[in-house]
Amino acid sequence: SFPTRRSSDLRCVFCFSPRVFQVSPTKTRFNPRSMKKLLLLLLLCCGWMTQRAAPADSLIRISTDETDLVLKISPAGRLYQVYLGEKLRHFEDARRLNWQVRTGSDGSYPVRGFEAYAAGETEDFFEPALGVTHADGNKTTYLYYQNHRQQPIDGGTETLITLRDDRYPLQVVLHYAAYPKENVIKAWSEITHTESQPIVLNRMGSAMLYFDAARYFLTNYHGDWAKEAQPATQQLQFGKKVIDTHLGTRAAMQSQPFFELGFDAEPRENEGRVLLGTMAWTGNFRCTFEIDNTGVLRLLPGINPYASAYTLAPDSVFVTPQFIFSLSRSGVGTASRHLQDWARRYQLKDGMGDRLTLLNNWENTGFDFNGKKLATLMREAKQLGVDLFLLDDGWFANKYPRNDDRAGLGDWAVNRQKLPEGIAGLTRDAKRAGVKFGIWIEPEMINPKSELFERHPDWVIRQPNRETYYYRHQLVLDLANPAVQDHVFGVVDSILTHHPEVAYFKWDCNSPITNVYSPSLGEHQDNLYVDYVRGLYKVLQRIAKKYPRVPMMLCSGGGARCDYEALRYFTEFWCSDDTDPYERIYIQWSLSKFFPLKAMASHVTDWNKKTDLKFRIDVASMGKLGFDMDLSQLSEADWRFCRKAVARYRELKPVIFDGDVYRLLSPYESQHAAVNVVDKARNRAVLFTYNLHPRYAENLRPVRLQGLDPDRQYLVEEINLRSGTRGLNTTLSGDYLMKVGLQVLRPDEGTSRVFSLTAR
Ligand code: DGJ
Repeated sequence: SFPTRRSSDLRCVFCFSPRVFQVSPTKTRFNPRSMKKLLLLLLLCCGWMTQRAAPADSLIRISTDETDLVLKISPAGRLYQVYLGEKLRHFEDARRLNWQVRTGSDGSYPVRGFEAYAAGETEDFFEPALGVTHADGNKTTYLYYQNHRQQPIDGGTETLITLRDDRYPLQVVLHYAAYPKENVIKAWSEITHTESQPIVLNRMGSAMLYFDAARYFLTNYHGDWAKEAQPATQQLQFGKKVIDTHLGTRAAMQSQPFFELGFDAEPRENEGRVLLGTMAWTGNFRCTFEIDNTGVLRLLPGINPYASAYTLAPDSVFVTPQFIFSLSRSGVGTASRHLQDWARRYQLKDGMGDRLTLLNNWENTGFDFNGKKLATLMREAKQLGVDLFLLDDGWFANKYPRNDDRAGLGDWAVNRQKLPEGIAGLTRDAKRAGVKFGIWIEPEMINPKSELFERHPDWVIRQPNRETYYYRHQLVLDLANPAVQDHVFGVVDSILTHHPEVAYFKWDCNSPITNVYSPSLGEHQDNLYVDYVRGLYKVLQRIAKKYPRVPMMLCSGGGARCDYEALRYFTEFWCSDDTDPYERIYIQWSLSKFFPLKAMASHVTDWNKKTDLKFRIDVASMGKLGFDMDLSQLSEADWRFCRKAVARYRELKPVIFDGDVYRLLSPYESQHAAVNVVDKARNRAVLFTYNLHPRYAENLRPVRLQGLDPDRQYLVEEINLRSGTRGLNTTLSGDYLMKVGLQVLRPDEGTSRVFSLTAR
């Protein structure tokens, strides 16, 4: 029998009128004056008065070529998810889908469904997407469907659904952008109100999604400096699992904003139902996974509400960050290739463009360099065959020179002692050497030992009444303050205005927000974490507008910033300071699930120098290749080897950057790793194989490739060979390569083999 309907399920059709529903903070929502007005209006509109009837077509379908997300408007006008999964072949079937919870209702319970955007304190007793303290102190919100529309966007369709509270002038617009071909959906929401006073958002989820399976397995990624993106898989049980961060700026240092969900089984590479999801937010995020009393999993991605009860003024719009996901019924690999295609086409800065190979000086010189030394490195970059020389930390500040990490951050004038000829001298030397020139900045930060701090102590996030504590001897500038935004924009703008030859930036961010107090936000300290990120985006948008073509690397003391909102403004990100090839294989393995290889900056360095240079180069070649080592120490043979490897890499770049990635052999499941990348036309492919720590007398199995054309013959050539060695050179069919494979693994620790495949 149908459960007893709550009075709140009887709703009238009202337009969203702030005047009618204006409620002052001191009055209760049933105050007589408002009620009188309300009754009058009700009488006038008696023709409209009706229990909210769902529109004739009460289903809203959000689809890609492979996925359907179906929402249904209940008779009471509330919006529920009724389906999320593999695309329905006959959409008429969806009419059978019921919005009510199937169990637990014996007639005396309130009706409950899987509300598309549940607001707390309603008949749903689980984690809400939205939590509002209204201007009058009331904490309840009931959202009712008003209208929806669908509009074309680049690559897909966006569905916008407007929901409104019936008692408060509060509106939420749910956005779902669906990209059919790439099978990716982005979801976010916009919250706005016209109450008489500001409201407070205690929860501001980006979306709310439900999944139905017998068992759920989550693989999330955690880490720290030099050990980014470590996977951890667990079965979810009743209750909640949360992945989140409180770090503010260097937000993803300990927990990365992406994950895999496996339905019925652990997420596997080539089989099973899985979801890959990621939060596009360069700050505190939180993803809550909650299994409810019916065994349904709700996923609630969004901004972390920790210390962020956000004060929202009337008429302002709170836009939540986007949650991006792809569902697959054939494992992580498929979802990951979809996500990478989508990112290249629609999200990553210059996603379809080329990337610059480079020589960086950080691991080589640290802070200890001068113009002469750099000019030598630029010539070495040219000899190596890379595109660009990247000058890292230590080039700036005079009163408090940047000779170590204790001083100078904030003073972005060239250090005259190290570089008397300034940036002009550097760009000139780069031009002479025949390479482009790029430069490191960390513009959101400040050392207390700096002229900027002397001038603007009020620009710094720090406690007015407590002892300051430092992370890497530095503090974070208050980007919630528009004057600080101007300063940060000015760091890039001034370099590019005076030196338009500067061809690349590495934007670093080495400190989390410490001493959390914004001098500019006054009583609204809870807005700091959110307004900081928005301030950062404003700066990045200004840079993108004025300098749309300058490539930039996102870095955060290694890989502590790696989200898709930041990547709108960055062509690549630094995966980790850990460039020990053994460790990098694991890190790159994880990151390659979520990001195109062209976005993953990977450098050959002297970390774990005892490993063979070939092994280090072969590992870095699986991403966007760079070098960051003392090349002057290389033997003539090593030089020759490096030059050849760079030349080969340049030739294979189009495949590595834009091809489909197949993870064949996991370092987590074997003593080896293997990945192959195939271009879209299946003409060319590259196979990377790594032998990490083979066991004694291990039975080495052939590596079976994926994604090739079974009916074509491929010339398989081993590349990156030491001179004097002969590698594999043979022609085999795609079918053979995928079914039988290549016997190319080795029993030798720390070795690698790379193959180029060309269809004949
Ligand atoms: C941290 C980065 O990860 C390094 O690559 C380097 O740029 C240093 N910062 C410079 O201080």
